[in-house]
Amino acid sequence: MRYLFVTLALLTALLMPNSGVIAQQNLRFELNQHCPPSFELTTEGTCKLVSFYQMYDSVQNRGLGGTQTSLPPNRDGFTPNQIDLGRLLFFDPLLSADQSVSCASCHRPDKGLSDGLEQSIGINHAKAARSAPSLWNVAFLDKFFWDARATTLEQQAVGPLFDPKEMGNNPQQLLSSLKSNEYYPELFKQAFPDSDDIDLNQLVEALAAFQTSLISLNSRYDHYAHGYHQALSDNEVAGLNIFRSFVARCAECHQPPLFTNNQIAVIGVAEKEGVPFDIGAQKTYNAAQLRGGFKVPTLRNITKTAPYMHAGNFSDLKESVEFYNKGRGHAVPPDEKLLLHWHIWEPNLSPEEVDLIVEFLGSLTDETLTPQIPKIVPSGLSPVDDSYNNKTMLVNQGE
Ligand code: HEC
Ligand code: HEC
Repeated sequence: MRYLFVTLALLTALLMPNSGVIAQQNLRFELNQHCPPSFELTTEGTCKLVSFYQMYDSVQNRGLGGTQTSLPPNRDGFTPNQIDLGRLLFFDPLLSADQSVSCASCHRPDKGLSDGLEQSIGINHAKAARSAPSLWNVAFLDKFFWDARATTLEQQAVGPLFDPKEMGNNPQQLLSSLKSNEYYPELFKQAFPDSDDIDLNQLVEALAAFQTSLISLNSRYDHYAHGYHQALSDNEVAGLNIFRSFVARCAECHQPPLFTNNQIAVIGVAEKEGVPFDIGAQKTYNAAQLRGGFKVPTLRNITKTAPYMHAGNFSDLKESVEFYNKGRGHAVPPDEKLLLHWHIWEPNLSPEEVDLIVEFLGSLTDETLTPQIPKIVPSGLSPVDDSYNNKTMLVNQGE
């Protein structure tokens, strides 16, 4: 009798060779049940960030640019399934109109979650107006885009999805490609069990869930901040001290531990030649005093995300730091009257001091929680844009 069963099982396997393959395909898209590293599962089944900075109770009063300050509140509380669904969506070009561009095309894990371009390139080789910011630590931000025109990650994601120069999609087509996909309906059901149908809110929530897991708080600088003083070289400590001195004033805006104070500042970076003046946050707030104002960007993983500034016009860190040393307003076009921030001054740093700041900025690198690029995404399309090298060429040729 036992032999009969074994033989039957063998026969079934031989006669239905596809059954195993189908099972395997389904397996590929089983969503992760565990929280990402650095998060712990709460009794409600959601993921909560755990960080050393929770030991500190204040964001202020720890000396100018003090190291032992707490973090501002962060977005978390998503389930492991929502975070993992967001990861698949983030890497899936299915989200763009012609299925050629994913979020990861412009926020690449190998480029500090930016893209290495002065201006990002979307579908049909369209150039986006500004350079792509890094997505590290977006969980802590309350303003998104260089001009702060979105206040949540969910609101932000709608931007690239439907921007004709980025992913060029529209809500109808996007929902229909997700619903007609072989795997997404089941995956959305797992991540959002209370709902019967995929909708845009779930899509942007999953993308937000994934992005809140992109945490970088474990650099050598952080080890130093928590008391391990050998983590930084003498030069880096000297650079840090200049960075947070009242001469250079960098930490007034790039405030530790996020190296941004989450505010807008007018600092007077020029556009690239031939590009019209970018009014930045003036438009968002309808406020003339914010003309040419941009969000203070984080400096975490800053060595990975050249070129710099909203215009992508500084090719390296030295050039970016030297900007602050060239005198208040030196790059403002003559026909523009900008209300420059009062911390933009004339620090008169020596070339050695500029180099020390640059050296210090290198200690802010921590990519240990770089997300895993899925081997395959539900659309079966290539998760990281293969045409990237062509794009780099396009930009360099100035097309
Ligand atoms: C074509 C390139 C491109 C694609 C595709 C793209 N982005 Fe972006 N992303 C950018 C650029 C450029 C900006 C800055 C635009 C601005 O400030 O006006 C940006 C800004 C952001 C920001 C704001 C970060 C901050 O610090 O303010 C987030 C978050 C973001 N993108 C997430 C996403 C997500 C999620 C997707 C996929 C749905 C996506 N991006 C697709 C280029 C892209
Ligand atoms: C008044 C606030 C303020 C001060 C002070 C300040 N910054 Fe900035 N920083 C900004 C803003 C705003 C931007 C973005 C400007 C833009 O894109 O046009 C920026 C951009 C940068 C960038 C490029 C980041 C990126 O992702 O492209 C670097 C590097 C930088 N600052 C370093 C420094 C250093 C070093 C100092 C001190 C010498 C300093 N900053 C002082 C507000 C400030």
